Amino acid sequence: MTAFVVTPRAPAGGRLQVPGDKSISHRALLLGAIADGTTTISGFLAGEDCLATLAALQAMGVQIQRPEPTTVVVEGVGLRGLQAPAGALDMGNSGTAMRLFAGLLAGQAFDTELTGDESLLRRPMGRVAKPLAQMGASITTVNDRPPLIIRGNPSLHGIDYPMPVASAQVKSALLLAGLYAGGETCVHEPAPTRDHTERMLTQFGVAVNRAEDRVCVASGQSLQADAIAVPGDLSSAAFFLLAGCLAPAGGVLQMAGVGLNPTRTGILQILQMMGADIQVEQQAGQTSHAEPVGRLTVRPSTLAGIEVPPELVPLAIDEFPLVFVAAALAQGETLISGAEELRHKESDRISVMLDGLRALGVAVEERPDGALIAGGGLGPGQVNSGGDHRVAMAFAIGASVARGPVSILDTANVATSFPDFARQAQDIGINLRVNTDD
Ligand code: S3P
Repeated sequence: MTAFVVTPRAPAGGRLQVPGDKSISHRALLLGAIADGTTTISGFLAGEDCLATLAALQAMGVQIQRPEPTTVVVEGVGLRGLQAPAGALDMGNSGTAMRLFAGLLAGQAFDTELTGDESLLRRPMGRVAKPLAQMGASITTVNDRPPLIIRGNPSLHGIDYPMPVASAQVKSALLLAGLYAGGETCVHEPAPTRDHTERMLTQFGVAVNRAEDRVCVASGQSLQADAIAVPGDLSSAAFFLLAGCLAPAGGVLQMAGVGLNPTRTGILQILQMMGADIQVEQQAGQTSHAEPVGRLTVRPSTLAGIEVPPELVPLAIDEFPLVFVAAALAQGETLISGAEELRHKESDRISVMLDGLRALGVAVEERPDGALIAGGGLGPGQVNSGGDHRVAMAFAIGASVARGPVSILDTANVATSFPDFARQAQDIGINLRVNTDD
């Protein structure tokens, strides 16, 4: 089993280039595949999750070249050009891939089976299967979990769907199915979620009607291929924002070309509320016009515990493992609430994070929808990431200033979103060793 072994040494400053955004890389592949024409994607995230999406599209007859690891050329087959795959499509660890493909494949003229790894086979799929069934799709789950058997139905019909949970994956699945469904498909969000699908559909020439909490697409609109420049992933940059706070006086850490879509920037607000000295400068012309990008500069900061505003939860949904660690390193208590969704991620992130923090001597109180975390720092010890990439990376950053060495077990899945994480952490002075036979 792969492990990270971190011996305390505070991070230094420096400049980093974080890898491409995972959510946007998935969408660029999917929309490029069903577009008319050739889509060239630059800044693509060459992580296992997005490569699972790429392989699934190839299995359905889409020609895809990768002249460089982060450049991908997709020969679009048009809205109706996908072909039946020879076998089940393996989504690996990726909930995004599985849920977006469920929407894309519900309205095809062929059947598909979607499967995945142990973690993905535990994740709830009723949240996409149920609204898609209302559109006329036939999707079988195993007690709400994958594998999904999708019996393609080329005559789906649009629905007007109030989403019970704020989920960009569900919203995106329904919009993709909506391209194949008669009439109009509308989704109402209980809270704003990442809108990369809406932005990229618009970029590809699809009329997306957005008003307040509602987004709609009408059927049968063809997509026109376009170049996609994927910005750096703020969810990956977030780890180094905390690292920059932990640097000794004088350290300055900078990351340019990072995606700053306002539906993703909750982590900047949370860290700034805790006292992080983060400067945000918007950059122009670095990426597709559809996604804002900028440069982040972080300086050493003293963090204080806060009550995390629940309305920021969907805007920072993937960054909570890091917020738990920041809370443990802060002075005073931090209360996280309204975050029940964390239990349905690559692991139950509330339970796995609190187990890890307890193992490092932090006083925590578990709540159904969050936690109360006492600050004061991390002790030495061993934590298990539960096979969750973001848990592993969050503990690795925190461990750099622990009171002794920390081993983080089960870290192989870091390759799903940030294959180069260990090297980048080492580059800014974190004393991290990757142990592959532990
Ligand atoms: C994602 C949406 C979020 C997020 C996930 C990526 C996406 O999931 O946690 O990592 O790309 O649409 P939910 O839609 O389940 O909140």
